[in-house]
Amino acid sequence: MHNPCRVNMISTNFFGAGAIELLRGEIMKKGFRKALVITDSFLFESKVADQICTELAGAGVHSFIYYGVKPNPTVEIVNEALSVAADIKPDFIVALGGGSAIDTCKAVGIVLANGGRVEDYEGVNKSSEKSLPVVAVNTTAGTGSEVTTFYVITDEKRHSKMVMVDTNCSVWIAINDTNLMKSMPQSLTAATGMDAMTHAIEAVLSNEATPFTDKDALWAITAIKEHLPRAVKNGDDMNSREMMAYAQYSAGLAFSNAGLGMVHAMAHSLGGFYNLPHGVCNAVLLPHVMEFNARDEKTHYDFKKIYGALDLKGASYSSRAAVAQTINEIKKLSHEVGIPASLSDLGVREEDFRALAELALQDTCMPSNPVKPTIDQIIDVYRKAWKKR
Ligand SMILES: [Fe+2]
Repeated sequence: MHNPCRVNMISTNFFGAGAIELLRGEIMKKGFRKALVITDSFLFESKVADQICTELAGAGVHSFIYYGVKPNPTVEIVNEALSVAADIKPDFIVALGGGSAIDTCKAVGIVLANGGRVEDYEGVNKSSEKSLPVVAVNTTAGTGSEVTTFYVITDEKRHSKMVMVDTNCSVWIAINDTNLMKSMPQSLTAATGMDAMTHAIEAVLSNEATPFTDKDALWAITAIKEHLPRAVKNGDDMNSREMMAYAQYSAGLAFSNAGLGMVHAMAHSLGGFYNLPHGVCNAVLLPHVMEFNARDEKTHYDFKKIYGALDLKGASYSSRAAVAQTINEIKKLSHEVGIPASLSDLGVREEDFRALAELALQDTCMPSNPVKPTIDQIIDVYRKAWKKR
């Protein structure tokens, strides 16, 4: 039996090649006139932002662009975007990019509607008013931020990531246009795809999972296993790009309602400390945290679901063998898409393990992990993920 739960979904989503063109009609219905587009310098310089502004102009909208977003967006970046917004007073904001742009936009939308500072909203449901309307134009296939009630901002003073879980931050319209994902480089396709795999696996193992979240997470696991290696190998494989767009969305919907776990808690510490790519941190940690969680046999029922979603077969089913095979399959997938083997390859320092573990223990994602770790157990998992294989 499951506890009573709330299910959050966003109402308007556009999918597929050319889906951006569906935005015009929605904006015209609202009568919006002014937009702030929040993006990064790559999408600005490669004229993708101009393409979005042309779409918006077709709906009678005058756009301004802020292109200072960087990976692991900081409080400083949010404040910079807020000061641009204060000058132009937009009717709505458009996030153009992956999780970093969308999370920055969510933070801006919440602070514009509620006042105060972004730091005030760390934790669960800290705002009282709905965000200014946000259109999330997703250009990567992994974070699922366009569908979740989560956003993450780095507090550069504390070297830590603030996780905000807030139903008021849900976007107004999410767009997954695969034409905008075509130019994603191999390494970004791999890292964001493994982020989505981590979302799906943590959602299944979460102690807040329900049959509703399982159906999305398990389908995502099946689709990512099949299509991520193809999308990494050949970025022009538009069928796999499209399947990855749907899969990462499904994984996002699952974790937005089931929560995440110890992989994300530990990855957030690494990201805040060393400014490392989120998806890569998750991918390196994932098999080690799965091993830790599997020590508690109560997780084996959920491991069996993941084993099935990965289409694994054994001569005769035993839960221990299935767990080992499942973890091995995740390691194989990471290796196939070119993820580094260990945290030491990423420049993580052994002497930081305790400070990292202290932050991970306090992370908003930790309570939904199926097994509650001690600080020494978290350090032990960092050490296993750090050692060269
Ligand atoms: Fe993630």
